[in-house]
Amino acid sequence: MYQLARPALFAMDAESAHRFTLGALRRAPWLLSAFPEAGEDPVEVMGLRFRNRLGLAAGLDKNAECIDAWTRLGFGLIEIGTVTPKPQPGNPRPRMFRLPEHGAIINRLGFNNAGLDVVLDNIRGSDRGGARLGINLGKNAVTPAEHALDDYREGMQRAYELADYLTVNISSPNTVGLRDLQAGQARDALLRGLADCREMLAQQHGRRVPVAIKIAPDLEPDEVRTLGDAVVNVGFEALIATNTTIHRDAVAGHRYAGEAGGLSGDPVREPSTRLLRLLREHLGSACALIGVGGVMRPEHAVEKLRAGADLVQIYTGFIYAGPALVARSVDVMRQAGFTQVKP
Ligand SMILES: Cc1cc2nc3c(=O)[nH]c(=O)nc-3n(C[C@H](O)[C@H](O)[C@H](O)COP(=O)(O)O)c2cc1C
Repeated sequence: MYQLARPALFAMDAESAHRFTLGALRRAPWLLSAFPEAGEDPVEVMGLRFRNRLGLAAGLDKNAECIDAWTRLGFGLIEIGTVTPKPQPGNPRPRMFRLPEHGAIINRLGFNNAGLDVVLDNIRGSDRGGARLGINLGKNAVTPAEHALDDYREGMQRAYELADYLTVNISSPNTVGLRDLQAGQARDALLRGLADCREMLAQQHGRRVPVAIKIAPDLEPDEVRTLGDAVVNVGFEALIATNTTIHRDAVAGHRYAGEAGGLSGDPVREPSTRLLRLLREHLGSACALIGVGGVMRPEHAVEKLRAGADLVQIYTGFIYAGPALVARSVDVMRQAGFTQVKP
């Protein structure tokens, strides 16, 4: 079915196709019931039980418009966002490009989103079914780097009660200075501030919501190890590896290769999996790992598990292979028979 719809969607520019699809799924979530629903393959990660290990990566449903549709595909986890405290338009269009020859996308959307008020309302009005819901938090473009903590703290405080887990996104290449929060004093101050905030919220709510830090594939091995240690030391539960890459070697010569932004899909799989493996080797079982980047076929999801992932997310593979990738990946991961790495 998706093979029939795809040519029509791919005839539109990438962002229009995305908007069109989300609009259709918001009005008619049952459209996705035409695809097989992923089976159960329960796993416990970050202290939470997930019905299976496959998730929708952040960015596909930034505003939580289609949760009712995603649940019909049987995702184990659905990550909403990135959401910023205030609504913001993002960068000027065009800002999203398909590179079908490479199974890739370049985007520089820049956290276009409806803001916390609307996104949290959308979540309240939706049915997450058996899926776990992650809320991915960012900072507004106008917030100076030295006040980044304020934006993340506001996101954490307001999203806390609705989230099964929270993601702190410090790895988008499309917000100036954001990735600098992955290193040095800026990182340490941010992590400490958020760890204190989470402690306070855990007391208030009587529930400890796990926190994941989402990182870039373009870090050097030493930076990855130091960042991993810092996340474990403040007591956060998971790392999400990885966001998009700013490198273009894999798509050199393509007419869109010179477009600014983050590259996702096939070309990011290897660097992303390498970083995931490094984290697992370095951290052992001290932290849960969510593998994302270049899962275009079910076997790629198994590769992520082999490299040390506890859970796997998809974005670009979903655009190219369609909704059937979800159930097939869960099947193939189940058949691969992974014993769980207990965080
Ligand atoms: C168009 C687009 C928008 C994205 N927006 C976000 C976002 O808002 N927040 C985020 O954490 N990641 C975002 N991502 C990154 C994905 O969640 C994922 O980490 C990355 O694309 C690698 O996975 P993939 O190769 O399966 O796409 C976005 C990716 C794409 C392609």
